[in-house]
Formats: sequence, C-alpha cells, structure tokens
Amino acid sequence: MSEKPVAMIGHSALAQSDLRYSALIGAATLLLSVDLALAQDTSFGQRLFQDKADCQFCHGINGDGRGDPRSPGRAANLTETHLDRDQLVEVIACGRPGTEMPHFDKYAYEDTDCYGLKGKNLGNDAARDPHSTSLTRREIEAVADYILAKFVGK
Ligand code: HEC
Repeated sequence: MSEKPVAMIGHSALAQSDLRYSALIGAATLLLSVDLALAQDTSFGQRLFQDKADCQFCHGINGDGRGDPRSPGRAANLTETHLDRDQLVEVIACGRPGTEMPHFDKYAYEDTDCYGLKGKNLGNDAARDPHSTSLTRREIEAVADYILAKFVGK
C-alpha cells in the first residue's frame, strides 16, 4: 500500500525528465540544421574560392597568401585581415587599384561605386580584370563568408 504513491512520484518525475529530454533533442536538432545550413553556405564559398574564381591561385588554398609560384605574388594573408564583412565584399567586388588584386564585380567602377570612385578614370592604376571570371553579388558575399568562417584568425 505504501509503495504506490512512491511509484507515482517516480513516474511523474520520469515524465518530466522525458519532457526535458525531448526539448533538449528538439534544440539539438535545430542547432544541427542551422549548422548544416551554414556548412552548405561555406562549401559554396569554398568552391568559388578554390575553383570558379580561383582566388587560391594567388592567396593559397589556406588563404595564407602563399599561392601558386606562377601567381604575381604578394597576395594578402587572409588569416590576418582586419576587414569586416562589408569591407571584404567591397575589396572582392572592386579589387585594389594599383595592385594585382582583381575586381570580381564585372561592373565595378561603372555601375558599381567603388571606394567612392566611378568611371574608369584611374588609368593604369585601374583594378584588373580577374584571370578567372567575374562573380555575382551573391557569390561575392559567399566568398566573403567563407573567408570569415575558415581563414580569419585561424
Ligand atoms: C592575381 C592574384 C589575385 C587573385 C586571383 C585574387 N587576389 Fe586577392 N589580393 C591579391 C593581392 C596582390 C592583394 C593585396 C593587395 C594590396 O597590396 O593591397 C589581395 C588582397 C585581397 C584582400 C584584402 C585583404 C586585406 O586585408 O587587405 C582580400 C579580402 C582578397 N584579396 C580576397 C580575394 C578573393 C576572395 C579572391 C577571389 C574571389 C581574390 N582575392 C583573388 C591578389 C589576388
């Protein structure tokens, strides 16, 4: 007779921990799917960095600035960059006039304002065209996110 209430208490405590457990699983599943979504984003950026835009030719596969010996060299070490996301997007879109860093926005300095400059009135200092291909805005942002996720501070 005295065992029944004990069993009931035990049962309701169990039910409560079951509830907490499933809440935990729910949270973990949510985190996992957010993680997967992010992982997908950086794999897109990675493909652009390594293949389509061929950033690695100059910056190296690890972004440390040690690219192919045939590259023009002196590419920035992206693990040490102090640029924020907006600034990364601008450099990738606009390149660096007067350096080997090409502009990946096809319309840079034409339709797109770059460092407050419009019109290719930079003469020989104009940012170069890429040896690979230009990128869309979405692709430029994906590469910037890839750099932030995989290189900066690593
Ligand atoms: C032809 C070689 C070359 C290619 C290709 C190239 N870069 Fe660069 N990049 C450079 C050089 C050189 C610099 C340094 C410019 C300078 O001296 O300011 C640079 C600078 C940068 C910077 C500025 C870093 C900082 O902290 O100032 C970023 C970001 C960058 N590159 C990203 C990219 C990305 C992303 C790609 C591909 C979409 C790419 N680069 C392709 C040569 C290249």
